[in-house]
Amino acid sequence: MVEVTASVWATGQRQSRAQRQGRYVPESMRHPGKMLPSIAAKTISTYTQPGELVVDPMCGIGTTLVEAVHLGRHAAGVEYEEGWARLAVANLALAKRQGASGFGRVVAGDARNVAALLPDLCGRVALVLTSPPYGAATHGHIRSSRDTGVPGVHKWNHHYSRDRANLAHQSLPKLLEGFGRILSGCAELLEPGGAVAITVRPYRVRGELVDLPGHVQAVAQKAGLVLADRIVCLLCGLGEGKLLNRASFFQLHEARKGWARGLPIHAVAHEDLLIFGKPPASPPTDRSPDRRCRQPE
Ligand SMILES: C[S@@+](CC[C@H](N)C(=O)[O-])C[C@H]1O[C@@H](n2cnc3c(N)ncnc32)[C@H](O)[C@@H]1O
Repeated sequence: MVEVTASVWATGQRQSRAQRQGRYVPESMRHPGKMLPSIAAKTISTYTQPGELVVDPMCGIGTTLVEAVHLGRHAAGVEYEEGWARLAVANLALAKRQGASGFGRVVAGDARNVAALLPDLCGRVALVLTSPPYGAATHGHIRSSRDTGVPGVHKWNHHYSRDRANLAHQSLPKLLEGFGRILSGCAELLEPGGAVAITVRPYRVRGELVDLPGHVQAVAQKAGLVLADRIVCLLCGLGEGKLLNRASFFQLHEARKGWARGLPIHAVAHEDLLIFGKPPASPPTDRSPDRRCRQPE
């Protein structure tokens, strides 16, 4: 029986932009769905030791990798889009110039084959830390007519790419199916006692709540992983006895639209961090096939 513990982490004490300033190359801002660096750093320091290996199979501009190498861990990432992969490499190079002691590398490819893309890491990874993409509706930067003087809402940087095969463009069932394959591969990379950490939050489509954390939990369990921890990572700040709002214009806009339609919607102020482990391995038998990090067929 795995004990599930809940905790709250004060990861929103600084604005995300301030967390990235000078630590990531400026072009990184173009990515529509970056992980908050403080969530990555806190997860890595909680679940790994210096010198251990951290992997992000959907690494985007490399937040997991950058925070890992700054903390003296070694890191590897896979990213489907070559443009984001190049930025992850640039961010790792910047971290190195700033004195990061860990080593990082990035492979551009489809993480549904992650174990084949990183065969040398099989059974050696202490932590997989990642977050799934979830649609252009929830991402990007936004300006209202108040800022631009032009009627309507202007949105930019909300596309991962124009490639329809990117999981970000798939329907929810296909995204979950692909993410399940990625998690199965990640399970092959884990060392005994290693963990898979997934940051994810619910979102709304036309007012309807999509429980992405719940879906991700189900998919991870189907991939053979066992829930070990569930942590609330605050996106809002904590200060002087109250919550400091960090919700984006877009989130507040959506919430106001909901209220106007009679739906009491609140802007999301936290991210769920789901921690999974592998069940203890049963002793091998003569008939157990060796499935570890097999090459693609
Ligand atoms: C939520 S973002 C991750 C952002 C990352 N944590 C960061 O801070 O930059 C998900 C990423 O998964 C990538 N992606 C989508 N499908 C993929 C696949 N099949 N294999 C690898 N990466 C994929 C997207 O291009 C996107 O950059």
